Amino acid sequence: MLNSGLGGHIGTDANFTLTTQTGYSRADAKPTTGQSKMQLTAEEQAIYDGKHGELLQKAIRTVVAYGELFSANRLVDLGGAPHMAMSWGTDAVEPFLKIYKQLADAGLKTYKPFTADPKPMDNENLDPGPKKRAIVDKIYDREDELQEVNLRLGMRSKDDWSCVCYVKEMGNTPKRGDYLAWSESSAINYANSVLGARTNRNSMGIDMLCNILGKAPLFGLMTDEGRKAPWLIVVKTTKLPHPELLGSAIGLKVMEAVPFITGLKDFLGEANDRTSGWLKDMGAATASNGAVGLYHLEGITPDAIEHGRKLLKDGYQTYVVDDAELKRVYDSYPNLWKDPHHKPERVFIGCPHNTVEQLREWGDRIDKGLKASGKTAVACPTYLFASKYVRDAFQLKYPDVAKSLTDNGAVIALNCPMMYLSTPVEMDEMDVTNSNKTRVYTKGRFFLDDDLVHIMVTGELPPGA
Ligand code: F3S
Repeated sequence: MLNSGLGGHIGTDANFTLTTQTGYSRADAKPTTGQSKMQLTAEEQAIYDGKHGELLQKAIRTVVAYGELFSANRLVDLGGAPHMAMSWGTDAVEPFLKIYKQLADAGLKTYKPFTADPKPMDNENLDPGPKKRAIVDKIYDREDELQEVNLRLGMRSKDDWSCVCYVKEMGNTPKRGDYLAWSESSAINYANSVLGARTNRNSMGIDMLCNILGKAPLFGLMTDEGRKAPWLIVVKTTKLPHPELLGSAIGLKVMEAVPFITGLKDFLGEANDRTSGWLKDMGAATASNGAVGLYHLEGITPDAIEHGRKLLKDGYQTYVVDDAELKRVYDSYPNLWKDPHHKPERVFIGCPHNTVEQLREWGDRIDKGLKASGKTAVACPTYLFASKYVRDAFQLKYPDVAKSLTDNGAVIALNCPMMYLSTPVEMDEMDVTNSNKTRVYTKGRFFLDDDLVHIMVTGELPPGA
């Protein structure tokens, strides 16, 4: 059921694929019915039997039923801290708001303070104009309500809205082996792959219930077996591949299976502050162009360092990615603009949110591009997305780059570009992006970095686009 009606050219949208969306391959999922088959501890059984109140009973019964669908036979205690995907307050999330308010009114809180995905809008830094803003404000008129109930349930603060919660500036960084019940696909992918934590791809609502209980069912990507790779990806490119293109190619191929990727160690080195942006963006593209919740990079990510190719499942399949394959993937992206050759209206950089180093790189790139053309400011409105904490840390660490970014007319915004661009009144904007995730979920056009700089500097599409 991939891309039906679109001639098969659009990147797969995980919302329309036959995946379990948990990161647990549908081939292995075994639905069960009937009585609880999970082995509960005495404490869990007491909650299950209603001895701690009706709300917690409903919560644990829901979580147990969810686990049993995937043959989990026990719950595990969660570590690290929670992160939630729901960040938009609209009438569409009324059922969640209703449940969350009941939980908060009963004085329940998550097992540790939590962070959440970026809000859909940042009118202060990315103003869509008075006409659109009036409509957008109406659509998201329950944003304050969501924030208020989140704060009561244990959200860290009103500034903690970012999908890149795991960077040190945000501080919600789980340790290797921590069990989590996260729900943001890109953060799940990073936590599992780069940090070695263990979480399935949970849905909204299930995340909150697990995190109120401090427990989640043990299955899929939380188990040693579920972290094994049925795919070997052999990267044979002539240089470090663009993370968005490699991630897109892998996601489209393996869908939600775990890939074990080789051929990058010499290009990338190790996982550190310098490479975390690349790892984040590659993973987010696998998670949105497919539904990958975990990848292993030979010699780089923790599970791969410890176990090496023993992580490959018997009978694994192989996919070779070379320069030609990446070009084929790039060329397959459709142009969904109402006027395919229109001048771009805005440039969106950073979905998932940028790291401090990525803000510096883009600041330098934009400045260099403008200077080379003898220009002093961007010709197309340009937005770089980041959390408040990352923006502040960037301004502190690289004050000169931060100043030149502002002088050059680029803006750091705190919201989610994908949600901005999938809001009805804004979805016809002809915007460009460096993110495959934004491309998949909106009509935004994806361009490589040099082309984006060209657009920023000239306001025009690159030649031939
Ligand atoms: Fe983050 Fe929004 Fe992109 S939540 S990953 S900026 S879609």
